[in-house]
Amino acid sequence: MTIPVLIDCDPGHDDAIAILLALASPEVELRGVTTVAGNQTLDKTTRNALKVLELADRTEVPVAVGADAPLKRTLRTAANVHGESGLDGPDLPEPTTKPVDGHAADLLAEWIEPGVVLVPTGPLTNVALMLERHPDVRDRLDRIVWMGGAIGEGNTTPAAEFNALVDPEAAAAVFGSGIPVTMIGLDVTHLALFDSSHAERLRVSGRAGKAVAELADFFLRFHRQRYAFDGAPIHDAMAVAHVIDPTLVETIACNISIETQSQFCDGRTVVDRWSVTGLPENAEAGVDVDAERFLELLVARIGSLS
Ligand code: RIB
Ligand code: CA
Repeated sequence: MTIPVLIDCDPGHDDAIAILLALASPEVELRGVTTVAGNQTLDKTTRNALKVLELADRTEVPVAVGADAPLKRTLRTAANVHGESGLDGPDLPEPTTKPVDGHAADLLAEWIEPGVVLVPTGPLTNVALMLERHPDVRDRLDRIVWMGGAIGEGNTTPAAEFNALVDPEAAAAVFGSGIPVTMIGLDVTHLALFDSSHAERLRVSGRAGKAVAELADFFLRFHRQRYAFDGAPIHDAMAVAHVIDPTLVETIACNISIETQSQFCDGRTVVDRWSVTGLPENAEAGVDVDAERFLELLVARIGSLS
């Protein structure tokens, strides 16, 4: 049974790899891509999404442009991680395709039907706008699998992960929507490091594999310098992998609330892992991952793209 998937993203190295993983996996059907400002400005994340689909020769997948800023806050980007283009590393040609007309928040609502899994891999601005503009979507959106947040430490402040911190109000709206959310956070993504051996296997595996190797080369530098990691967490690809094979990531049911008014902890995903608050279990949080199986899936599938 192929699972229809929509990816809302801010490409971004790991967003790009997540899109390629979805395209390379028969378990899922990528029905559409929507873009949001996050890792870079909206014009750049949109250009990058178009580039990635063209790289995989899959320009029939529609791209819809979304929000260029968070609901209430000033946009913060991550050029220190993803570079000025948002996809530094490979020299990908300018896209020859254009996004479809219409705002991502409206097109997501149009594209969502029972059975579709929404996989946001950036700030949740578009998803929150969709819920605001089209409240009826709650009746037909069964599941959101989001790369973002953390049970433990953040990566942008000590308390907050980037996607959550860029737009905490949007994250609060999504986690308060009543739609089940699976949070694939830093606690699990940092357990699976894509290293130079994975990159070398892909470098000789075709056009997409070569581009992913070059994305990893660039992405690895930040993680080596910041964390002294000998590899890079391909965060967003793990969210897609969780839809492909739900046995990879172990999750727990819990309440997740979002801090939106704190001097030190703004954007924190407050995960009540031990049910001490009595708040309703509105989410699943990733707590462990079979890192080797995830990385092997990633390399095998990307390597299978011609
Ligand atoms: O914190 C990691 C997340 O923020 C990833 O989705 C990365 O692409 C950035 O969007
Ligand atoms: Ca992302």
